[in-house]
Amino acid sequence: MEAIRWEHDALLLLDQTRLPASEHWLRYIDYREVSQAIKTMVVRGAPAIGIAAAYAMVLAARESIHNNADFPAAMSQAKAALAASRPTAVNLFWALDRMECCWKACGPDLSRLENEACTIHLEDIRMNRAIGEAGAALIRKGARVLTHCNAGALATGGYGTALGVIREAHTQRKVSMVYADETRPLLQGARLTTYELLQDNIPVTLICDNMAGCLMAQGEIDLIVVGCDRMAANGDFANKIGTYSLAVLARHHGIPFYTALPSSTIDLAIPDGSHIPVEQRDGNEIACFAGRQTGPAGVRTWNPSFDVTPHELLTAAITEQGVLYPPFDKALHDHLL
Ligand code: MRU
Repeated sequence: MEAIRWEHDALLLLDQTRLPASEHWLRYIDYREVSQAIKTMVVRGAPAIGIAAAYAMVLAARESIHNNADFPAAMSQAKAALAASRPTAVNLFWALDRMECCWKACGPDLSRLENEACTIHLEDIRMNRAIGEAGAALIRKGARVLTHCNAGALATGGYGTALGVIREAHTQRKVSMVYADETRPLLQGARLTTYELLQDNIPVTLICDNMAGCLMAQGEIDLIVVGCDRMAANGDFANKIGTYSLAVLARHHGIPFYTALPSSTIDLAIPDGSHIPVEQRDGNEIACFAGRQTGPAGVRTWNPSFDVTPHELLTAAITEQGVLYPPFDKALHDHLL
């Protein structure tokens, strides 16, 4: 399964706002529209928005060359527009910085820029496969796994991080059941994770977010694996809102709690989770459900898209270079050397 395709002169994105009802691909030739697609979550998931932004920079370069514009100025403008789309996942800024290094080194060389964006995309798929192998080694036969949001093929270049671990463990016949939190308010778990897992014939049960604790109390969960949008230097990490509550519940019930992430999600420039910018989204996402108003008109809302889980609640971080255990500050520092 894939959600991003590159066609040399255009970027194709599978419209994730319409899944699972319809598989509708959108075609982009203007980087400004890609920025909008990231904002409105046509494309979402930390690695996927980085990849989309990298391809958008190729579109920006093509436009600048075609218009005979001031190349560095046009590229900086495009980078700023894309960087303003969503604040939390560091992969977006990581990919934009990589593209910037490339255009600063090679100038208006379209094929070099295209090659860099494709490399970012392919590297992500390779990292996901390695994360899957490293994570599957942690899973025992018959495991019942809980996951939150969607950290699958749709959220990455392909294959997935948390779902990559589940996919590989399933291939090794170790998974007896995956429980997918629905993930209010935008239902990435209900709409996307179950959709991906059903396509791969991986056994999945959909639950509402508020049912996870009850399942744990009944002894039905052996481990939890989630994705990551940004990990700080001490191991604190941002992921979809609701992740922190799961981590607290997991600790209470003695259940191992893992996050799966590629190196592109690690931000050693910030010391801890308090420095992670958390996106606040429109209150209508929670005052409405399935297009219907469910809260009284004008009700005050609070709608952070992510929360930060302190490293003390994390059992281990699964990366493409292996599994990192506490103390995470040292493990992360050594990992990125
Ligand atoms: O708001 P979203 O859907 O972009 O949030 C996605 C998540 O929180 C994922 O868990 C995270 O980006 C990791 S994706 C491999």
